[in-house]
Amino acid sequence: MFLFALSALCVAVPMFAVNAAVQSPLIRAESDCAEGMVPLNVSVTNWDLSGLDAVPPRPLVRNVSIFGEFSIQVRFCEPTVHVPSHADTLLVVVHGGTYNTLYWDFAYEPETYSFRRFAGAEGFATFNVAMLGRGESEHPDPTILQIPLQAALMAELVTQARRGALPGLSRRGFRKIVGISHSLSSRVLNEVLVSFPKAVDAAILTGYAHVWSAPLAPFPGFLPARIVVPERFGNLPDKYYTSNNISIRASLYGPPNTYDPAVLQFDEANKDVVSVAEFATVGVASGKALEFRGDVFAVNGSLDGIFCTPPECGNLHDEHQFYPSAQSFESSVIRNAGHDLTLHLNAQMFFETMTKWLGRRGY
Ligand SMILES: *[C@@H]1O[C@H](CO)[C@@H](O)[C@H](O)[C@H]1NC(C)=O
Ligand SMILES: *[C@@H]1O[C@H](CO)[C@@H](O)[C@H](O)[C@H]1NC(C)=O
Ligand SMILES: *[C@@H]1O[C@H](CO)[C@@H](O)[C@H](O)[C@H]1NC(C)=O
Ligand SMILES: *[C@@H]1O[C@H](CO)[C@@H](O)[C@H](O)[C@H]1NC(C)=O
Repeated sequence: MFLFALSALCVAVPMFAVNAAVQSPLIRAESDCAEGMVPLNVSVTNWDLSGLDAVPPRPLVRNVSIFGEFSIQVRFCEPTVHVPSHADTLLVVVHGGTYNTLYWDFAYEPETYSFRRFAGAEGFATFNVAMLGRGESEHPDPTILQIPLQAALMAELVTQARRGALPGLSRRGFRKIVGISHSLSSRVLNEVLVSFPKAVDAAILTGYAHVWSAPLAPFPGFLPARIVVPERFGNLPDKYYTSNNISIRASLYGPPNTYDPAVLQFDEANKDVVSVAEFATVGVASGKALEFRGDVFAVNGSLDGIFCTPPECGNLHDEHQFYPSAQSFESSVIRNAGHDLTLHLNAQMFFETMTKWLGRRGY
């Protein structure tokens, strides 16, 4: 049973309906979205992290069984324009650490920074997910918030979406499902391609590579979220972290001329959390996705201080080796963008790079 409201099915008829009918096939209002909480059962083996605190640290062992039902916040949006070639495709979009559903559907100047809107205007339906521990999703003991559990949840969510068993999806099914991820969730999506190779048809992995240039844990500038923002995170256990201040946030962007300071302010005011366990397990790079047979697209910002190694994100070009059975692999480097690709002045160019790739690959 889903706890969600099919919001605003009262589709507004624009004043320019007559012209619009001819020029722009607007079929749905901006507000044709359904949101709610989805309960998902998963059974997975996580890492035992006790070795991290030992002196000297012991290697991590993956031997902790997790079985349970977790409640995940989702928002499904119909496209605002009907494009027959994209009508059977669902884009499942997932944010990175210290973000939530705002990352792909930014509320400040959304006409520029919301990928969800951009994709909707290109004819794509989106399913925006708050990872476990973020947004309205359940906040469990943070030591279980690890890559294996997040990957099992993402795979289960996609499986349910394919069946049309999620909020907003009952009206139709989707034949093609594309996972679109950023940073931490790209590591999660990678794990999905390795462990659940039939879950998605294609993957767009952004702000991530298997080889990186900065240590991922412990990450300087990240502190217990309950100390940094007591009014929002005061009741969270210590091992939920967030970025300490706006300078730390800015380090995920390119230099000041590449973004609007108001975007950074909005981002800082709405920042979310990441678990210490995610920092620890994201650093265990996944192996090759030997059985994934779909399409892979890797996109980095040229100014990404972590996941773009000089020159010109050379590391991205080697990423194909991790997807030996993929139908296709392409990579792209967005100039004048840092790690947080959606939050730069050229966000629309980044969005277009993704939707053009989708079109080229038949999604
Ligand atoms: C999860 O499993 C429990 C126990 O088997 C069951 O009671 C519950 O209905 C399941 N939830 C979902 C969403 O399938
Ligand atoms: C997992 O492995 C560690 C290290 O060998 C061990 O200390 C721990 O007891 C194991 N946990 C389980 C649940 O087997
Ligand atoms: C921001 O946080 C970092 C890391 O905790 C700290 O070193 C720095 O002094 C802080 N900057 C400001 C302006 O508070
Ligand atoms: C993106 O950056 C990562 C890390 O620096 C690198 O390994 C990878 O090759 C880059 N990807 C592309 C497509 O350039």
